[in-house]
Amino acid sequence: MRQDGPRSIDEDTSEDGGDVRTRPLMNRRLDGLGTTIFAEMSALATATGAINLGQGFPDTDGPEEIREAAVRALRDGKGNQYPPGPGVPELRAAISEHQQRFYGLPFDPDTEVLVTAGATEAIAATMLALLEPGDEVIAFEPFYDSYAACIAMAGAKRVPLTLRAPSFRPDLDELRAKITPQTRLLLINTPHNPTGMVLSAEEQDAIAALAVEHDLLVVTDEVYEHLVYEGAHRPIAALPGMRERTVSISSAGKTFSFTGWKVGWVTGEAPLVAAVRAAKQYLTFVSGGPFQYAIAEALALPDAFFTDFREGMRRKRDLLAKGLRAAGFRVYEPAGTYFITTDISPFGDEDAGAFCRALPERCGVAAVPNSAFYDDSEAGRSQVRFTFCKKDDVLEEAVERLARL
Ligand SMILES: Cc1ncc(COP(=O)(O)O)c(C=O)c1O
Repeated sequence: MRQDGPRSIDEDTSEDGGDVRTRPLMNRRLDGLGTTIFAEMSALATATGAINLGQGFPDTDGPEEIREAAVRALRDGKGNQYPPGPGVPELRAAISEHQQRFYGLPFDPDTEVLVTAGATEAIAATMLALLEPGDEVIAFEPFYDSYAACIAMAGAKRVPLTLRAPSFRPDLDELRAKITPQTRLLLINTPHNPTGMVLSAEEQDAIAALAVEHDLLVVTDEVYEHLVYEGAHRPIAALPGMRERTVSISSAGKTFSFTGWKVGWVTGEAPLVAAVRAAKQYLTFVSGGPFQYAIAEALALPDAFFTDFREGMRRKRDLLAKGLRAAGFRVYEPAGTYFITTDISPFGDEDAGAFCRALPERCGVAAVPNSAFYDDSEAGRSQVRFTFCKKDDVLEEAVERLARL
């Protein structure tokens, strides 16, 4: 073991065989997956006192009664010891009821629902459960950053389907052309982070048809399911032929503004959920005991909660979009999520990474470069993402600061 601490995890990619004395400290599967861009930009925001519109976490906690429900569970000794591996029965029932209530999708709470440590663990466990080394995973890029890491940790290969500005719509002919005998699964994300793209019904139908035709699994990340501004969220699992091949992932973090509680879930047919559970039990086994009881109550909140949440975010979207336009950004208006992707070329700038590193000093606002989420670095080179899940006065102040650019 080196005495001067671990090497930079991005540092050494040399091929020096199996000699344990000379080979890189870290598993090569993690090459290039050093500090996440969110951590880097949040640290920069803290160091400079900038308003952090980089990382997607709300600056206001979710409903007071749900916070109280967590306190009550803690005091009542509910979930303070290891909860059941698949999640507490109350939460599994609530997830099942939520899928039925909003989408008419029936899932057996005992065999078709699994509670995870956020969507992040659900993604990791799903990739580890369903992929063999050498399998190919087709995923939209820009990717949510954990996709690339989890596909790599499973020893599989990511095959990006590039979403291009200004519409960020997937090219379905390109998708078809990317399917090979090695393709194991399609990893989709709608509403899509970071672009805010929401798949249309026609696109979902076409993706589902391809999955059926090529007998592919589909993993769908729907953490922004309650933040769709035009029309309603439509889960791909509801389409013909999809139930038996789809793992649906969601999370309480985004919908209920408790991102730190890390309560997520998986729904799907029993054999798929059993496979994911097999991997999940060796990652965390269980997590967030008392929070699980509270989220069970959150999922049962009346429709008005979900509508008000979405309408509140829509207003914030409009506020920030207007401010970004006024400041000179090209704005790609999101149809979902709480992110706005912009283009910085109107400033005569093309390098989103350098722009974001300088932004806190220049005007006291932090954002993240979308280029970090693309393999095709040209495609996202001049894109910068801002989040609007912040208090109105914080957004107003940010807009004022951005106007200095
Ligand atoms: C698309 C997407 N998937 C998954 C996650 C992670 O969710 P969680 O915090 O529940 O692990 C996020 C969080 O930003 C996300 O944007």
